[in-house]
Amino acid sequence: MLMLREKIPADWLPKILSNLPAVLVDHAHLERKAATTSLNLEKYRDLFHRVRELNAIAIEELQHFNLVLDLLEKRGIPFTQPHPSPWITGLMRSVRNGNRHQAIDHLMCCALIEGRSCEKFQVLAQELVTIDPELATFYASLVESEGNHYATYLLMAKEIDEPEADRRLDYYLDLDAQLIRIPNPLPMLH
Ligand SMILES: [Fe+2]
Ligand SMILES: [Fe+2]
Repeated sequence: MLMLREKIPADWLPKILSNLPAVLVDHAHLERKAATTSLNLEKYRDLFHRVRELNAIAIEELQHFNLVLDLLEKRGIPFTQPHPSPWITGLMRSVRNGNRHQAIDHLMCCALIEGRSCEKFQVLAQELVTIDPELATFYASLVESEGNHYATYLLMAKEIDEPEADRRLDYYLDLDAQLIRIPNPLPMLH
């Protein structure tokens, strides 16, 4: 389903596995941002008729956020400050102005974030089985939902203007491949 053009960098997994408490805090913020972003998409004229679907995604993301908060509390990890992700900032920086173009680009960024999350949660579900079975099960439980969000956002963009969405998908897949190679020493999912 995913058409990503660059593999996750080799140093990502060891960095994540050796900093799980910080990764969980980052993950909590990622779900929080996913919920607010879904609501932000409701401002676009081309998505007014999708408001219920976007609300449903926001509710799901808030549920994920609460599940991560449960894990933080259980493990005695404080919920602290978020760090900006250079990869997400890089994607969002190229969102064009103008209602229709902006909606398509914003949806493409969201689709890529969901797609990369789905991919990385799958990796974590496998890699954590022996290290941290509780987290492995948790990540496995999120894969389908984030994969559905990826597909939904992509379809929403195509429904607005298919040839334009395809052109922008091509652009964003190249941008993702370029941005994911930029080193980020922080223990972040993205
Ligand atoms: Fe989520
Ligand atoms: Fe999601």
